[in-house]
Amino acid sequence: MSKNVVIIGTQWGDEGKGKVVDVITDKVASVVRFQGGHNAGHTLVINGKTTVLHLIPSGILRNHVECLIGHGVVLSMSALLKEMAELKAADIDTTKRLKISPGCPLILPYHIALDNAREAKRGKAAIGTTGNGIGPAYEDKVARRGLRVSDVLDSSLFTSKLKEVMEYHNFSLTHYYNADPVDYQTTLDEALSQAEQIKHMIVDVTEQIHQHIANDENILFEGAQGALLDIDQGTYPFVTSSNTTSGGAVTGSGVGVTDIDYVLGIVKAYTTRVGGGPFPTELIYDVALDKGDEIGKVLGTVGHEFGTTTGRQRRCGWLDIVTLKRSFNLNAVTGICLTKLDVMDTLETIKICTAYKIDGVETTTPPFSAEGYATAKPIYIEMPGWKTSTIGTDSFDSLPIEAQRYIRKIEQLANLPVDILSTGPDRAQTLILNHPFE
Ligand code: GDP
Ligand code: IMO
Ligand code: MG
Repeated sequence: MSKNVVIIGTQWGDEGKGKVVDVITDKVASVVRFQGGHNAGHTLVINGKTTVLHLIPSGILRNHVECLIGHGVVLSMSALLKEMAELKAADIDTTKRLKISPGCPLILPYHIALDNAREAKRGKAAIGTTGNGIGPAYEDKVARRGLRVSDVLDSSLFTSKLKEVMEYHNFSLTHYYNADPVDYQTTLDEALSQAEQIKHMIVDVTEQIHQHIANDENILFEGAQGALLDIDQGTYPFVTSSNTTSGGAVTGSGVGVTDIDYVLGIVKAYTTRVGGGPFPTELIYDVALDKGDEIGKVLGTVGHEFGTTTGRQRRCGWLDIVTLKRSFNLNAVTGICLTKLDVMDTLETIKICTAYKIDGVETTTPPFSAEGYATAKPIYIEMPGWKTSTIGTDSFDSLPIEAQRYIRKIEQLANLPVDILSTGPDRAQTLILNHPFE
Protein backbone atom coordinates (compact mmCIF):
# COMPACT_ATOMS: atom_id res chain seq x y z
CA MET A 1 0.00 0.00 0.00
CA SER A 2 1.39 3.39 -0.93
CA LYS A 3 1.34 6.23 1.57
CA ASN A 4 1.00 9.99 1.53
CA VAL A 5 3.03 11.70 4.23
CA VAL A 6 2.98 15.39 5.17
CA ILE A 7 6.02 17.01 6.81
CA ILE A 8 5.39 20.24 8.68
CA GLY A 9 7.31 22.48 11.06
CA THR A 10 5.69 22.62 14.50
CA GLN A 11 7.38 25.80 15.75
CA TRP A 12 8.32 29.09 13.99
CA GLY A 13 10.17 27.50 11.06
CA ASP A 14 13.73 26.29 10.51
CA GLU A 15 13.12 23.06 12.43
CA GLY A 16 15.11 21.07 9.87
CA LYS A 17 12.25 20.15 7.50
CA GLY A 18 14.44 20.23 4.38
CA LYS A 19 16.96 17.81 5.84
CA VAL A 20 14.28 15.35 6.88
CA VAL A 21 12.42 15.58 3.56
CA ASP A 22 15.67 14.69 1.82
CA VAL A 23 16.32 11.77 4.18
CA ILE A 24 13.00 10.03 3.68
CA THR A 25 12.50 10.74 -0.04
CA ASP A 26 14.43 7.59 -0.87
CA LYS A 27 11.01 5.97 -0.57
CA VAL A 28 8.88 8.32 -2.71
CA ALA A 29 7.97 8.98 -6.33
CA SER A 30 7.21 12.63 -5.77
CA VAL A 31 7.76 15.55 -3.35
CA VAL A 32 5.17 18.34 -3.38
CA ARG A 33 5.49 21.91 -2.07
CA PHE A 34 2.01 23.22 -1.25
CA GLN A 35 2.35 26.68 0.36
CA GLY A 36 4.72 29.57 0.96
CA GLY A 37 7.31 30.63 -1.57
CA HIS A 38 10.96 31.59 -1.59
CA ASN A 39 10.65 32.95 1.95
CA ALA A 40 11.59 29.37 2.92
CA GLY A 41 15.23 28.34 3.30
CA HIS A 42 15.94 24.63 3.56
CA THR A 43 19.51 23.39 4.07
CA LEU A 44 20.54 19.90 3.00
CA VAL A 45 23.92 18.42 3.78
CA ILE A 46 25.03 15.24 2.03
CA ASN A 47 28.50 13.85 2.70
CA GLY A 48 29.56 17.27 3.91
CA LYS A 49 28.26 19.09 0.79
CA THR A 50 25.68 21.81 1.49
CA THR A 51 22.75 22.72 -0.77
CA VAL A 52 20.29 25.48 0.09
CA LEU A 53 16.80 25.40 -1.38
CA HIS A 54 14.08 28.05 -1.24
CA LEU A 55 11.37 27.22 -3.73
CA ILE A 56 12.44 23.90 -5.21
CA PRO A 57 11.25 20.86 -3.23
CA SER A 58 13.85 19.14 -1.06
CA GLY A 59 13.54 15.92 -3.08
CA ILE A 60 15.63 17.38 -5.90
CA LEU A 61 18.87 15.75 -4.76
CA ARG A 62 17.46 12.27 -5.36
CA ASN A 63 17.62 11.47 -9.07
CA HIS A 64 14.50 9.33 -9.21
CA VAL A 65 12.26 11.86 -7.43
CA GLU A 66 9.83 14.13 -9.24
CA CYS A 67 9.45 17.58 -7.64
CA LEU A 68 6.10 19.32 -7.83
CA ILE A 69 5.18 22.91 -6.98
CA GLY A 70 1.47 22.93 -6.19
CA HIS A 71 -0.97 25.81 -6.73
CA GLY A 72 -0.78 26.84 -3.06
CA VAL A 73 2.77 28.13 -3.59
CA VAL A 74 3.34 31.79 -4.55
CA LEU A 75 5.87 31.68 -7.36
CA SER A 76 8.55 34.20 -8.20
CA MET A 77 9.82 33.23 -11.65
CA SER A 78 13.05 35.14 -11.10
CA ALA A 79 13.71 33.36 -7.78
CA LEU A 80 12.95 30.03 -9.42
CA LEU A 81 15.28 30.62 -12.37
CA LYS A 82 18.05 31.79 -10.04
CA GLU A 83 17.71 28.67 -7.90
CA MET A 84 17.67 26.42 -10.97
CA ALA A 85 20.85 28.10 -12.24
CA GLU A 86 22.55 27.62 -8.86
CA LEU A 87 21.65 23.93 -8.86
CA LYS A 88 22.83 23.56 -12.45
CA ALA A 89 26.17 25.06 -11.47
CA ALA A 90 26.38 22.30 -8.86
CA ASP A 91 25.60 19.70 -11.55
CA ILE A 92 22.03 19.10 -10.43
CA ASP A 93 19.63 19.13 -13.33
CA THR A 94 16.15 20.35 -12.43
CA THR A 95 14.54 20.83 -15.82
CA LYS A 96 13.29 17.28 -16.26
CA ARG A 97 12.07 16.52 -12.76
CA LEU A 98 10.61 19.86 -11.68
CA LYS A 99 6.95 20.58 -12.49
CA ILE A 100 4.91 23.69 -11.72
CA SER A 101 1.17 24.16 -11.39
CA PRO A 102 -0.47 26.73 -13.69
CA GLY A 103 -2.51 27.79 -10.65
CA CYS A 104 0.44 29.25 -8.69
CA PRO A 105 -0.05 32.97 -7.98
CA LEU A 106 2.89 34.95 -9.37
CA ILE A 107 5.13 37.11 -7.21
CA LEU A 108 6.06 40.13 -9.34
CA PRO A 109 8.38 43.07 -8.54
CA TYR A 110 5.57 45.29 -7.22
CA HIS A 111 4.82 42.69 -4.52
CA ILE A 112 8.35 43.10 -3.23
CA ALA A 113 8.06 46.90 -3.35
CA LEU A 114 4.79 46.69 -1.40
CA ASP A 115 6.24 44.26 1.15
CA ASN A 116 9.14 46.64 1.84
CA ALA A 117 6.94 49.75 1.88
CA ARG A 118 4.55 48.16 4.39
CA GLU A 119 7.33 47.04 6.67
CA ALA A 120 8.91 50.50 6.59
CA LYS A 121 5.58 52.09 7.44
CA ARG A 122 5.05 49.76 10.39
CA GLY A 123 8.34 50.98 11.88
CA LYS A 124 8.93 49.39 15.30
CA ALA A 125 5.88 47.16 14.84
CA ALA A 126 7.35 45.62 11.66
CA ILE A 127 6.67 41.91 11.22
CA GLY A 128 10.21 41.27 10.07
CA THR A 129 9.17 39.64 6.81
CA THR A 130 11.70 38.17 4.42
CA GLY A 131 10.93 41.04 2.02
CA ASN A 132 10.17 38.59 -0.76
CA GLY A 133 6.67 39.84 -1.56
CA ILE A 134 4.95 36.80 -0.05
CA GLY A 135 2.18 38.66 1.83
CA PRO A 136 1.21 41.03 -1.01
CA ALA A 137 1.10 38.13 -3.51
CA TYR A 138 -1.28 36.16 -1.28
CA GLU A 139 -3.36 39.32 -0.76
CA ASP A 140 -3.77 39.68 -4.52
CA LYS A 141 -4.87 36.05 -4.75
CA VAL A 142 -7.53 36.45 -2.09
CA ALA A 143 -8.62 39.79 -3.58
CA ARG A 144 -9.11 37.91 -6.89
CA ARG A 145 -6.95 40.35 -8.78
CA GLY A 146 -3.75 38.26 -8.75
CA LEU A 147 -1.94 37.01 -11.84
CA ARG A 148 -1.18 33.32 -12.02
CA VAL A 149 1.31 31.16 -13.90
CA SER A 150 -1.42 30.28 -16.42
CA ASP A 151 -1.94 34.00 -17.17
CA VAL A 152 1.62 34.63 -18.20
CA LEU A 153 1.37 31.92 -20.88
CA ASP A 154 -1.09 34.11 -22.81
CA SER A 155 0.98 37.20 -23.55
CA SER A 156 -1.77 39.47 -24.86
CA LEU A 157 -4.10 38.73 -21.96
CA PHE A 158 -1.22 39.06 -19.49
CA THR A 159 -0.26 42.43 -20.97
CA SER A 160 -3.66 43.93 -20.27
CA LYS A 161 -4.23 42.26 -16.89
CA LEU A 162 -0.81 43.40 -15.68
CA LYS A 163 -1.52 46.97 -16.77
CA GLU A 164 -4.68 47.09 -14.67
CA VAL A 165 -3.22 45.53 -11.54
CA MET A 166 -0.08 47.67 -11.71
CA GLU A 167 -2.09 50.85 -11.99
CA TYR A 168 -3.76 49.90 -8.74
CA HIS A 169 -0.56 48.99 -6.90
CA ASN A 170 1.51 51.89 -8.22
CA PHE A 171 -1.20 54.23 -7.02
CA SER A 172 -0.90 52.85 -3.50
CA LEU A 173 2.91 52.78 -3.63
CA THR A 174 3.20 56.42 -4.65
CA HIS A 175 0.17 58.01 -3.01
CA TYR A 176 -0.07 56.06 0.22
CA TYR A 177 3.45 54.82 0.92
CA ASN A 178 5.39 57.69 -0.68
CA ALA A 179 7.48 55.06 -2.41
CA ASP A 180 8.72 54.79 -5.99
CA PRO A 181 6.41 53.20 -8.56
CA VAL A 182 7.44 49.98 -10.31
CA ASP A 183 7.98 50.24 -14.07
CA TYR A 184 5.27 48.52 -16.07
CA GLN A 185 7.20 47.83 -19.29
CA THR A 186 10.20 46.36 -17.49
CA THR A 187 7.94 44.14 -15.38
CA LEU A 188 6.08 42.96 -18.47
CA ASP A 189 9.18 42.25 -20.56
CA GLU A 190 10.89 40.38 -17.75
CA ALA A 191 7.84 38.29 -16.91
CA LEU A 192 7.24 37.27 -20.53
CA SER A 193 10.86 36.31 -21.00
CA GLN A 194 10.93 34.33 -17.75
CA ALA A 195 7.72 32.56 -18.74
CA GLU A 196 9.43 31.33 -21.92
CA GLN A 197 12.09 29.73 -19.77
CA ILE A 198 9.72 27.88 -17.44
CA LYS A 199 6.79 27.01 -19.68
CA HIS A 200 8.01 23.49 -20.45
CA MET A 201 7.71 22.67 -16.72
CA ILE A 202 4.08 23.68 -16.33
CA VAL A 203 1.76 20.72 -15.84
CA ASP A 204 -1.50 19.96 -14.06
CA VAL A 205 0.13 19.12 -10.72
CA THR A 206 -3.11 17.93 -9.15
CA GLU A 207 -3.59 15.42 -11.97
CA GLN A 208 0.01 14.31 -11.61
CA ILE A 209 -0.46 13.66 -7.89
CA HIS A 210 -3.60 11.62 -8.49
CA GLN A 211 -1.76 9.57 -11.12
CA HIS A 212 0.82 8.66 -8.48
CA ILE A 213 -1.93 7.71 -6.06
CA ALA A 214 -3.57 5.54 -8.75
CA ASN A 215 -0.19 3.92 -9.45
CA ASP A 216 0.19 3.07 -5.76
CA GLU A 217 3.26 5.30 -5.37
CA ASN A 218 4.35 7.19 -2.23
CA ILE A 219 4.11 10.98 -2.10
CA LEU A 220 5.71 13.39 0.37
CA PHE A 221 4.14 16.80 0.97
CA GLU A 222 6.81 19.26 2.10
CA GLY A 223 5.68 22.09 4.36
CA ALA A 224 7.52 25.40 4.64
CA GLN A 225 7.66 27.73 7.66
CA GLY A 226 6.07 26.42 10.87
CA ALA A 227 2.63 26.00 12.42
CA LEU A 228 3.06 29.02 14.70
CA LEU A 229 3.50 31.18 11.58
CA ASP A 230 0.16 29.96 10.12
CA ILE A 231 -1.98 32.86 8.87
CA ASP A 232 -5.07 31.62 10.75
CA GLN A 233 -3.62 29.82 13.73
CA GLY A 234 -0.24 31.37 14.38
CA THR A 235 0.86 34.30 16.55
CA TYR A 236 -1.09 36.83 14.44
CA PRO A 237 -0.14 39.32 13.06
CA PHE A 238 3.46 38.06 13.36
CA VAL A 239 2.82 35.26 10.90
CA THR A 240 3.34 34.48 7.24
CA SER A 241 0.46 34.70 4.79
CA SER A 242 -0.27 31.04 4.09
CA ASN A 243 -1.62 28.00 5.91
CA THR A 244 1.55 26.35 7.10
CA THR A 245 -0.38 23.63 8.93
CA SER A 246 -1.04 20.17 7.46
CA GLY A 247 -4.42 21.23 6.05
CA GLY A 248 -2.45 23.41 3.64
CA ALA A 249 -1.16 20.23 2.00
CA VAL A 250 -4.71 19.42 0.99
CA THR A 251 -5.84 22.84 -0.26
CA GLY A 252 -2.48 23.73 -1.79
CA SER A 253 -2.02 20.60 -3.87
CA GLY A 254 -5.42 19.17 -4.71
CA VAL A 255 -5.77 16.01 -2.63
CA GLY A 256 -8.50 15.34 -0.09
CA VAL A 257 -8.17 15.11 3.68
CA THR A 258 -8.55 11.34 3.73
CA ASP A 259 -5.68 10.99 1.23
CA ILE A 260 -3.21 11.84 4.01
CA ASP A 261 -1.92 8.81 5.93
CA TYR A 262 0.69 10.25 8.25
CA VAL A 263 1.81 13.71 9.45
CA LEU A 264 5.42 14.04 10.60
CA GLY A 265 5.84 17.02 12.93
CA ILE A 266 9.39 18.37 12.93
CA VAL A 267 10.37 19.61 16.40
CA LYS A 268 13.66 21.34 17.05
CA ALA A 269 14.98 20.20 20.48
CA TYR A 270 14.84 23.87 21.54
CA THR A 271 13.00 26.79 19.92
CA THR A 272 13.99 29.46 17.40
CA ARG A 273 12.20 32.33 15.74
CA VAL A 274 13.36 34.84 13.13
CA GLY A 275 11.56 38.16 12.77
CA GLY A 276 9.25 39.88 15.25
CA GLY A 277 6.51 38.49 17.49
CA PRO A 278 6.00 36.77 20.83
CA PHE A 279 8.43 34.12 22.06
CA PRO A 280 7.82 33.33 25.76
CA THR A 281 10.80 31.00 26.26
CA GLU A 282 13.32 33.24 24.46
CA LEU A 283 16.82 33.51 25.96
CA ILE A 284 17.69 36.94 24.61
CA TYR A 285 21.17 37.27 23.19
CA ASP A 286 22.44 39.86 20.71
CA VAL A 287 25.16 38.49 18.48
CA ALA A 288 26.24 41.90 17.15
CA LEU A 289 26.86 43.20 20.68
CA ASP A 290 27.84 39.78 22.09
CA LYS A 291 25.52 40.56 24.98
CA GLY A 292 22.72 38.71 26.69
CA ASP A 293 21.83 35.23 27.87
CA GLU A 294 24.71 32.72 27.88
CA ILE A 295 22.54 29.73 26.99
CA GLY A 296 20.90 31.75 24.22
CA LYS A 297 24.40 32.34 22.94
CA VAL A 298 25.31 28.63 23.06
CA LEU A 299 22.16 27.55 21.20
CA GLY A 300 22.64 30.21 18.52
CA THR A 301 26.36 29.61 18.09
CA VAL A 302 26.47 25.82 18.21
CA GLY A 303 23.23 25.57 16.21
CA HIS A 304 24.40 28.15 13.60
CA GLU A 305 21.08 29.88 14.03
CA PHE A 306 21.21 32.39 11.21
CA GLY A 307 18.49 32.60 8.58
CA THR A 308 19.16 30.81 5.30
CA THR A 309 17.06 33.30 3.34
CA THR A 310 17.93 36.64 4.95
CA GLY A 311 21.04 35.90 7.03
CA ARG A 312 19.35 37.36 10.12
CA GLN A 313 20.17 36.07 13.60
CA ARG A 314 17.51 33.63 14.80
CA ARG A 315 16.22 34.24 18.31
CA CYS A 316 16.73 31.12 20.49
CA GLY A 317 15.04 29.70 23.59
CA TRP A 318 13.89 26.60 25.46
CA LEU A 319 11.44 24.03 24.16
CA ASP A 320 7.84 25.18 24.67
CA ILE A 321 5.31 22.37 25.18
CA VAL A 322 2.38 24.79 25.46
CA THR A 323 2.61 25.98 21.86
CA LEU A 324 3.83 22.56 20.69
CA LYS A 325 0.76 20.75 22.00
CA ARG A 326 -1.46 23.22 20.18
CA SER A 327 0.64 22.64 17.10
CA PHE A 328 0.28 18.85 17.35
CA ASN A 329 -3.49 19.28 17.49
CA LEU A 330 -3.65 21.78 14.62
CA ASN A 331 -1.72 19.42 12.39
CA ALA A 332 -2.99 16.05 13.61
CA VAL A 333 0.64 15.01 14.04
CA THR A 334 1.16 11.24 13.87
CA GLY A 335 4.79 11.16 14.96
CA ILE A 336 7.62 13.53 15.87
CA CYS A 337 10.99 14.03 14.28
CA LEU A 338 13.22 15.63 16.92
CA THR A 339 16.09 17.62 15.39
CA LYS A 340 19.26 19.34 16.59
CA LEU A 341 19.49 17.41 19.86
CA ASP A 342 23.29 17.61 19.47
CA VAL A 343 23.18 21.42 19.82
CA MET A 344 22.33 20.91 23.52
CA ASP A 345 25.26 18.53 24.14
CA THR A 346 27.21 20.94 26.38
CA LEU A 347 24.37 22.22 28.56
CA GLU A 348 24.49 21.64 32.31
CA THR A 349 20.72 21.85 32.80
CA ILE A 350 17.86 21.80 30.32
CA LYS A 351 14.47 23.41 30.75
CA ILE A 352 11.10 22.59 29.19
CA CYS A 353 8.22 25.05 29.41
CA THR A 354 5.07 23.16 30.42
CA ALA A 355 2.70 26.05 31.21
CA TYR A 356 2.43 29.84 31.14
CA LYS A 357 1.45 32.29 33.81
CA ILE A 358 -0.72 34.92 32.12
CA ASP A 359 -1.86 37.87 34.26
CA GLY A 360 -0.86 35.79 37.26
CA VAL A 361 -2.97 32.77 36.27
CA GLU A 362 -1.38 29.46 35.30
CA THR A 363 -2.57 28.03 31.99
CA THR A 364 -1.62 25.43 29.41
CA THR A 365 -3.68 27.10 26.66
CA PRO A 366 -1.68 29.32 24.31
CA PRO A 367 -3.07 32.82 23.65
CA PHE A 368 -5.00 33.35 20.42
CA SER A 369 -2.98 36.26 19.05
CA ALA A 370 0.25 38.16 19.67
CA GLU A 371 -1.37 40.61 22.12
CA GLY A 372 -2.38 37.77 24.42
CA TYR A 373 1.28 36.90 24.95
CA ALA A 374 2.12 40.31 26.45
CA THR A 375 2.26 39.06 30.05
CA ALA A 376 2.89 35.34 29.36
CA LYS A 377 5.68 34.01 31.60
CA PRO A 378 6.90 30.44 31.07
CA ILE A 379 6.76 27.86 33.85
CA TYR A 380 9.56 25.33 33.48
CA ILE A 381 10.53 21.86 34.55
CA GLU A 382 14.28 21.23 34.71
CA MET A 383 16.30 18.20 33.70
CA PRO A 384 20.01 17.45 33.91
CA GLY A 385 21.96 17.81 30.67
CA TRP A 386 24.06 14.93 29.24
CA LYS A 387 27.30 16.81 28.56
CA THR A 388 28.45 14.20 26.03
CA SER A 389 28.45 14.33 22.24
CA THR A 390 25.36 12.86 20.60
CA ILE A 391 26.44 13.80 17.05
CA GLY A 392 25.51 11.12 14.55
CA THR A 393 24.37 8.63 17.17
CA ASP A 394 23.35 5.33 15.55
CA SER A 395 21.02 3.84 18.15
CA PHE A 396 18.70 5.08 20.85
CA ASP A 397 20.38 2.89 23.45
CA SER A 398 23.79 4.39 22.79
CA LEU A 399 22.55 7.87 23.70
CA PRO A 400 23.55 9.14 27.16
CA ILE A 401 20.83 8.30 29.67
CA GLU A 402 20.01 11.98 30.30
CA ALA A 403 19.41 12.50 26.56
CA GLN A 404 17.18 9.41 26.50
CA ARG A 405 15.24 10.88 29.43
CA TYR A 406 14.85 14.25 27.66
CA ILE A 407 13.40 12.47 24.60
CA ARG A 408 11.11 10.26 26.71
CA LYS A 409 9.91 13.35 28.61
CA ILE A 410 9.00 15.07 25.35
CA GLU A 411 7.13 11.96 24.19
CA GLN A 412 5.27 11.79 27.49
CA LEU A 413 4.32 15.49 27.49
CA ALA A 414 3.32 15.38 23.82
CA ASN A 415 1.65 12.00 24.04
CA LEU A 416 3.30 11.18 20.70
CA PRO A 417 6.24 8.99 19.67
CA VAL A 418 9.58 10.36 18.48
CA ASP A 419 9.83 8.41 15.20
CA ILE A 420 12.97 10.11 13.86
CA LEU A 421 15.91 11.65 15.70
CA SER A 422 18.37 14.01 14.03
CA THR A 423 21.75 14.65 15.66
CA GLY A 424 23.66 16.54 13.00
CA PRO A 425 23.03 18.40 9.73
CA ASP A 426 24.19 15.58 7.45
CA ARG A 427 21.79 13.17 5.77
CA ALA A 428 23.69 10.34 7.48
CA GLN A 429 23.27 11.84 10.97
CA THR A 430 19.70 10.62 11.29
CA LEU A 431 18.24 7.83 13.39
CA ILE A 432 15.00 6.45 11.99
CA LEU A 433 13.15 4.63 14.77
CA ASN A 434 9.89 4.20 12.87
CA HIS A 435 9.85 5.06 9.15
CA PRO A 436 6.76 7.10 8.16
CA PHE A 437 6.51 5.19 4.86
CA GLU A 438 6.73 1.72 6.38
P1 GDP B 1 14.05 24.17 7.56
O1 GDP B 1 13.71 25.54 7.11
O2 GDP B 1 13.04 23.61 8.50
O3 GDP B 1 14.34 23.23 6.42
O4 GDP B 1 15.39 24.30 8.39
P2 GDP B 1 16.71 25.14 7.97
O5 GDP B 1 17.44 24.34 6.94
O6 GDP B 1 16.37 26.54 7.65
O7 GDP B 1 17.46 25.20 9.34
C1 GDP B 1 17.91 24.05 9.99
C2 GDP B 1 19.46 24.16 10.13
O8 GDP B 1 19.92 23.18 11.03
C3 GDP B 1 20.18 23.88 8.81
O9 GDP B 1 21.37 24.61 8.79
C4 GDP B 1 20.47 22.37 8.89
O10 GDP B 1 21.62 22.01 8.15
C5 GDP B 1 20.73 22.22 10.36
N1 GDP B 1 20.33 20.92 10.94
C6 GDP B 1 19.26 20.16 10.64
N2 GDP B 1 19.18 19.11 11.48
C7 GDP B 1 20.21 19.22 12.34
C8 GDP B 1 20.65 18.47 13.46
O11 GDP B 1 20.07 17.48 13.86
N3 GDP B 1 21.76 18.94 14.11
C9 GDP B 1 22.44 20.05 13.73
N4 GDP B 1 23.51 20.42 14.42
N5 GDP B 1 22.04 20.79 12.67
C10 GDP B 1 20.95 20.39 12.00
P1 IMO C 1 11.41 27.87 6.55
O1 IMO C 1 10.63 27.11 5.51
C1 IMO C 1 11.52 30.95 9.59
C2 IMO C 1 8.99 34.46 8.97
C3 IMO C 1 9.66 35.79 8.71
C4 IMO C 1 8.65 36.73 9.34
C5 IMO C 1 7.32 36.08 9.00
C6 IMO C 1 6.63 36.68 7.79
O2 IMO C 1 12.85 28.01 6.22
O3 IMO C 1 11.15 27.31 7.90
P2 IMO C 1 7.07 36.49 5.18
O4 IMO C 1 8.25 36.90 4.36
O5 IMO C 1 6.72 35.05 5.07
O6 IMO C 1 5.87 37.38 4.96
O7 IMO C 1 7.53 36.77 6.70
O8 IMO C 1 7.60 34.71 8.77
N1 IMO C 1 9.38 33.38 8.05
C7 IMO C 1 10.16 32.35 8.39
N2 IMO C 1 10.81 32.10 9.56
N3 IMO C 1 11.59 30.08 8.58
C8 IMO C 1 10.92 30.30 7.42
O9 IMO C 1 10.84 29.37 6.45
C9 IMO C 1 10.21 31.50 7.28
N4 IMO C 1 9.46 32.05 6.29
C10 IMO C 1 8.97 33.19 6.78
O10 IMO C 1 10.92 35.85 9.33
O11 IMO C 1 8.79 36.71 10.75
MG1 MG D 1 14.59 27.44 7.00
